[in-house]
Amino acid sequence: MANKNKFYVTTPIYYPNDIPHIGHAYTTIAADILARWYRFKGYDVFFLTGTDEHGKKIENTAKKHNKTPREFVDSLIPKFKEAWKKLNLNYDRFIRTTDKDHEKFVQEILQKVYDKGDIYKGHYEGYYCTECEAYYTEKDLENGCCPVHKTKIEKLKEESYFFKLSKYQNRLLEFYRENPDFISPSYRKDEVINRVKEGLKDLSISRSSFKWGIPLPFDKKHVVYVWFDALFNYYSATRDKNKEKFWPADVHLIGKDIVWFHTVYWPAFLLSAGIELPKRVFAHGWWTFNKEKISKSKGKVINIDELVRIAGSDSARYFLFRHIPFGEDGDFSENALVERHNNELANKLGNLVSRVSALAEKYGLKEVNFKKINVDIHISNVVRDVSELIERFEFDKALNLIFAFIDTLNQWVQDKKIWETGSKEDLFELATGIRLATILLWPFIPETCERISKTFGFKISLSELEKPLKVIKIKKSEILFKKI
Ligand code: ME8
Ligand code: MG
Repeated sequence: MANKNKFYVTTPIYYPNDIPHIGHAYTTIAADILARWYRFKGYDVFFLTGTDEHGKKIENTAKKHNKTPREFVDSLIPKFKEAWKKLNLNYDRFIRTTDKDHEKFVQEILQKVYDKGDIYKGHYEGYYCTECEAYYTEKDLENGCCPVHKTKIEKLKEESYFFKLSKYQNRLLEFYRENPDFISPSYRKDEVINRVKEGLKDLSISRSSFKWGIPLPFDKKHVVYVWFDALFNYYSATRDKNKEKFWPADVHLIGKDIVWFHTVYWPAFLLSAGIELPKRVFAHGWWTFNKEKISKSKGKVINIDELVRIAGSDSARYFLFRHIPFGEDGDFSENALVERHNNELANKLGNLVSRVSALAEKYGLKEVNFKKINVDIHISNVVRDVSELIERFEFDKALNLIFAFIDTLNQWVQDKKIWETGSKEDLFELATGIRLATILLWPFIPETCERISKTFGFKISLSELEKPLKVIKIKKSEILFKKI
């Protein structure tokens, strides 16, 4: 038991200042795919997601809605949970930074880091973008505006506590050197390393001009900087009983917007607190919508209801991971999704399942010596290749490979003219091939795969692939993907 492999995957905790959109869904689906995959392989898995509820940004938005921050976030959390349910996201815990265990833990860590001498009192003078919840220097600004939001930025001058980030510069550089996969994909590494080499300034980690945050245990006039609070969610969630073994995290999945916080601040905080560092931070790219930034102000947001309404939850999941390599930017369009839904899911997978199940209903299956069948030679290769690709986060290639195999099966129905021969042996092989494709597709499109498994009577697990398919009475499958 102690030796059982574990896998711990996290998503960013999102700001609940509005309902979640396609960008939030993207990271969370990726985590779900990995969690399902590693569970398949028998790992003990912990999949964490949640919300980042403190800070000025949330306080401001709540005010606009005439609510207290608490009332406001409480009204949004159910929306996140409903959205994740629609997309079949099976997380193990939904952490909120307002959860009591988390708040208590953050205070303990703050005290520890303070006692160690890594936090000192000073004055902060500079620029702060509330939308980013980030500090900027004069030279970062563009015409006095935030470089990300292009909005006027507030100049702050207040008493503040500082974290000695500068002290960790060399240890961070050494850590990146010794752990070349820590910042992934590798093309995101240089930018971080170069900036760290230029030198790190100490970080202001407290604010006294607003109240919505965790108070510093050593000075209650101040609340802690929202990122210090937020990043520790990944660790505090493992302080729960039976969860300790999950730390360090195997992978923090994030978008490329928050690489700096996760690869500089986060490991520095952990080094200071004397906690082991996570194994990997994987930053994916940015979705645009018809080439424009997804942003509420421009009315280009796609929320989860809209996403699922286009072609269903599985088609959305499939599209997002098939359309672009995980890591790179991509453009979302409804047409592209519909095209893949029609041409790949309906015409290839849907068609295969419907033809083979119809023929199997008519003619029945007959078991062939398992070791001799034609699809068998594919099984171990496809499983090995898909496995490697998923574990390297190359989801698009994994899907490509599974669909190439589906093409092979469709071609086989065609070449062997099964509708004329009615060969029960061939149908047995085809059903065995469908079982393979279905099991490998399950982490991506679970709902559909569960329907296919019922039609052909197999269980969804990797070990199932080692046994001959049980011959049952098959009935023609319902349509899996209605064409749009
Ligand atoms: O940054 N394309 O929260 P956030 C791809 N609370 N991914 C996108 C996206 C897009 N257009 N838009 C958002 C925060 N995302 C902090 C995180 S973690 C300790 C604290 C995804 O609500 C992507 O994962 O702004 C990005 O990193 C995240 O949402 C930002 O969510
Ligand atoms: Mg953001």
